[in-house]
Amino acid sequence: FRTLDQLEPAGKRVLVRADLNVPVRDGQISDRTRIERLVPTLRELADKGARVVVCSHFDRPKGKRVPEMSLKPLAEALSHALGKPVAFADDCIGPVAEDAVAALKDGDVLLLENTRFHAGEEKNDPAMVDGLAKLADAYVNDAFSAAHRAHASTEGVAHKLPAYAGRLMQAELEALDAALGNPSRPVVAIVGGAKVSTKLDLLGNLSKKVDVLVIGGAMANTFLAAQGKDVGKSLQEAEMHDTARTILAEAGAGGCEILLPEDLVVAEAFAANAPNKVVDVDSVPAGMMALDVGPRTVAAVEARLKRASTLVWNGPFGAFEIPPFDAATVQVAQTAAALTTSAGLKSIGGGGDTVSALKHAGVIDRLTYVSSAGGAFLEWLEGKTLPGVKALEAA
Ligand code: 3PG
Repeated sequence: FRTLDQLEPAGKRVLVRADLNVPVRDGQISDRTRIERLVPTLRELADKGARVVVCSHFDRPKGKRVPEMSLKPLAEALSHALGKPVAFADDCIGPVAEDAVAALKDGDVLLLENTRFHAGEEKNDPAMVDGLAKLADAYVNDAFSAAHRAHASTEGVAHKLPAYAGRLMQAELEALDAALGNPSRPVVAIVGGAKVSTKLDLLGNLSKKVDVLVIGGAMANTFLAAQGKDVGKSLQEAEMHDTARTILAEAGAGGCEILLPEDLVVAEAFAANAPNKVVDVDSVPAGMMALDVGPRTVAAVEARLKRASTLVWNGPFGAFEIPPFDAATVQVAQTAAALTTSAGLKSIGGGGDTVSALKHAGVIDRLTYVSSAGGAFLEWLEGKTLPGVKALEAA
């Protein structure tokens, strides 16, 4: 794919697909990562004299104008992050958007209203694609985290305008390629999370590509139970036992080592600071549930990490939101960060609540790369082709 290195943007109208679908709590932006990571692309284009037209979706308004899902507050947030004014247009296609673009001077930045206020966005409707393409001379996709959607602004328009990857898209793709595309070995993957059922494709794909697959989180209970162990009151999926056994057998046959917990931290209730103890996986008391993995498991993971060249991490080991069941996640994260600095481990994390877990562990800036993508990162780990990336490659 082409990057900003191949685009000569001076005097051109450049449509940038951003992902400004930022988390909002009580009307306030609770995490600015996606805004901050967009800045290099916008600044580079504006500094080179482009007329920068930014578009994005926000939330899921389903083709209707929902006032609470307006992107207007994001114009101010962007302006703050960029250190220059950002204009706002009340629509992303049609006369309002066209007039706002026509008023831009070289170096100006404009944010358009939520693309999902139009039903044509998610339908990748040709009329919507044309409406967007009309606004610009070139298209830059900087929304890796929305690239799993084949929508008008993420996919369709890439076929209508000269298309380029923005700096954030480029960084995400390079990091992901270093993790699984063309990694230095051995590769260790850590997969946690609640359910095997939501991560079947991911486990299947990873077990073919990595050398060691560490399974943590509540999904580990399903694997332990599938091996005939009594996991007490632990969260697990009884209907997934056959699948879990198949995953173990296939991974083993393919030469991938699967590392399951050896010990667990169990408690009587899912509550912060609930009385707890460390037990062997063979002796979980009937009335107790696993909420984290134990120290022997952590040591086993650390031993694999010390020999590894690459780490791909998706999902926490335990219920990291409630202490002390964050202990394994925090310790492994800190070991990974230390090895990244001292031993050149390439450490890449992302997807779902991985980012909050790594933030909680205080390592977000100490790993090689933490993706700002949720669903897109997961689909990529599943080995799927992301339509937004494919369209850039075709360009
Ligand atoms: C995300 O936040 O993961 C992306 O912006 C995609 O949002 P969506 O799941 O509503 O398509």
